Amino acid sequence: MTAWRDRLGVPRDRFIPPEVWVDDPVTGGFVSVSRKIDQARWRELVEADEPIITQVDDGKTRPGAVGFQPTSSCSKPSLVADMLDALQVEDGHRVLEIGTGTGWNAANLRERVGDDGQVTSLEVDLELAEQAVRALTGAGSAVLVVTADGTKGYPDRAPYDRLIATASVRRVPRAWIEQAVPGAVIVTPWGTDYCNGTLLRLTVPGDGSAWGRCGKNLRFMRVRDQRREFLDPSGAEISGADKGTTLRSARELFEMTEFSRAAFTIGLRVPSCYLTIEDIDADHRHIELHDVRTASWARVVMARGADFEIYQLGPRRLWDEADAAYAWWLESGLPSPDRYGLTVTVNGTHEVWLDEPTSEHRWTVQGLKPGGGCSP
Ligand SMILES: C[S@@+](CC[C@H](N)C(=O)[O-])C[C@H]1O[C@@H](n2cnc3c(N)ncnc32)[C@H](O)[C@@H]1O
Repeated sequence: MTAWRDRLGVPRDRFIPPEVWVDDPVTGGFVSVSRKIDQARWRELVEADEPIITQVDDGKTRPGAVGFQPTSSCSKPSLVADMLDALQVEDGHRVLEIGTGTGWNAANLRERVGDDGQVTSLEVDLELAEQAVRALTGAGSAVLVVTADGTKGYPDRAPYDRLIATASVRRVPRAWIEQAVPGAVIVTPWGTDYCNGTLLRLTVPGDGSAWGRCGKNLRFMRVRDQRREFLDPSGAEISGADKGTTLRSARELFEMTEFSRAAFTIGLRVPSCYLTIEDIDADHRHIELHDVRTASWARVVMARGADFEIYQLGPRRLWDEADAAYAWWLESGLPSPDRYGLTVTVNGTHEVWLDEPTSEHRWTVQGLKPGGGCSP
């Protein structure tokens, strides 16, 4: 594959703000790098084929303080190029982007649609939208940036030939399909709470549905109202949890948490189940499963040389559900993520399938039956 600089015509540096954020090994959080104070480091970040964090904690943490959660970034350049290629933008296309961020992707889109095309980009955060407008104007790139919730689309300029999201979704919003022309393509990072996620490329036949296949692994930040949440039960609550052990080996637990092995399948079969992994020390790891909606929680304690203990709290037995999904993955020939596809039906149901839309292996994803059980 050609180097990203040959695939993306718009220089990146003029879209990157003077203060960006990097991992801080000391605090485990994020600290700012200032172009004014450390020009060489800032430049190195801009030139690398890596994402650059441009906002933390929805802008509530300012440069100089320690941030907790990245909330905007300029995506990894080679991935930006891959997503634009998957979108198959042509001259004259009307494109809707969800997640303006720095505006760099929008500027690259603008270049690809040519003078007869049109790019509209939606950003939920006012400060980011204003920064992007300044950068786009400075670069002479005619993009309409609107401060709005992108999951609602932008009916004023619909219909669109292409829609691209640069923040990940758990559910493909109805509005995107409704605002697309027949034959349109939607490219979006898509994931479950358990495994986030894959590059989904949907086509829109024009009957109110959309369908397509899952692609490579990517971990995008979520659109704001679909963020994942975790539970943090107290010691007293954990001491009252159901306790057991699992005979699963360390290798099997690794498979259960790895995208390219079973994690994607488990996420498709176990709805509303957020996976977190914490290394306590060199000999102890906690794998936790969280469903905030039903206040269900599970922890697997991996301890070197000991049985792996399981704790489960709440109405759902999340570990048992994940373990059953893993058993299904083993029985079904270890399907890899790229064998899956998704159909969003006219009524918005998300139906996932293996290999073909008509496969006997297909089920409704992310649906909980009334009363709490899983639909697969
Ligand atoms: C990975 S960044 C986007 C990168 C961007 N395309 C670029 O070129 O820099 C994701 C962006 O999505 C925005 N976002 C999150 N939820 C959103 C929503 N519901 N509607 C619109 N934008 C949203 C975030 O504020 C963030 O700026």
